[in-house]
Amino acid sequence: MGKTVVEADSLVKRYGQLMAVDHISFEVYEGEVFAFLGPNGAGKTTTVEILECLRPLTSGNARVLGYDVTRSEDVKEIKKRIGVLPQEFCALDKLTVKENIALIGDMYDRHLDIDEVIALLDLKDKVNEKFENLSGGLKQRVGVAAALVSDPQLIFLDEPTTGLDPKARRDVWAVIANLKRLGKTVFLTTHYMEEAQVLADRVAIINKGKIAAIGAPQELISQYGGLKILKIRGGDKALASLLQKKYDKVSLNGNGDVLVKIDDVDEFWRVMATLAELKINKDVEIQTPTIEDVFLKITGGIITEEGELK
Ligand SMILES: Nc1ncnc2c1ncn2[C@@H]1O[C@H](COP(=O)(O)OP(=O)(O)O)[C@@H](O)[C@H]1O
Ligand SMILES: [Mg+2]
Repeated sequence: MGKTVVEADSLVKRYGQLMAVDHISFEVYEGEVFAFLGPNGAGKTTTVEILECLRPLTSGNARVLGYDVTRSEDVKEIKKRIGVLPQEFCALDKLTVKENIALIGDMYDRHLDIDEVIALLDLKDKVNEKFENLSGGLKQRVGVAAALVSDPQLIFLDEPTTGLDPKARRDVWAVIANLKRLGKTVFLTTHYMEEAQVLADRVAIINKGKIAAIGAPQELISQYGGLKILKIRGGDKALASLLQKKYDKVSLNGNGDVLVKIDDVDEFWRVMATLAELKINKDVEIQTPTIEDVFLKITGGIITEEGELK
């Protein structure tokens, strides 16, 4: 585990009566991709904007790269060292990709070579394209380039793939995976469960201003995800009742598949032997729980494509 680069201790943000961030504590370690996963209104943007020194906290403590977000001398140091892709990223429409990135680079005392940043984000073909003519995915890539140009140690990406089509989303995922390879620490927020599972070394599940669980995706899945399921395709009702005599956790789904929850490998082989005895020759597959099952278990809901809790 790397050293601690973000430290939040009992962080609170109130907007009038609303407790948008409700006593949350967590750490982010150097070199990891850390994800805040939660639905709209969970408090993701509020938290990252406190860490980016864009909003004041109500109470609690937050340190970024060892500096205190509430001390004005420290704020300058933090801002020099972080990169930010805001949730509503927008560059100048009439400027080209290169002009936009160069403009943001000039805001800093020291910045990376613009062409190098462009190459890193695979934007070479688009350098002379006006920002307004880019697709959503390319715009987000320019946003990540802008967040990177000052060569920050820590990069905040607030919902970098929201609203993108699946292909553009995967392109942005590749960019984020690449940032990690470069040794950057990435603090990502998302409402896409798959995104958190694929990219993050550690995930904090945030809901209604509180962190409900935090850990590596695999840890959370083993802790909360439930059992693996053996799915027997088109197994039908008769098979389900036969299996129910021997096993506790057998059900039928809407497609007529028989689902058997499996405790361990031994049980898997017992079920397979039963199927052989019964001369059942159907397609079987193992369904492994995902972060979605974890989220469901913890919050009782799922997050829709639009980010709403359902
Ligand atoms: N400036 C603000 N004034 C009042 N309420 C706000 C403000 N910003 C956010 N909120 C509220 O705080 C809660 C958390 O918002 P936000 O941090 O934007 O969540 P997320 O980024 O997870 O969608 C929401 O209920 C939102 O409506
Ligand atoms: Mg947000």
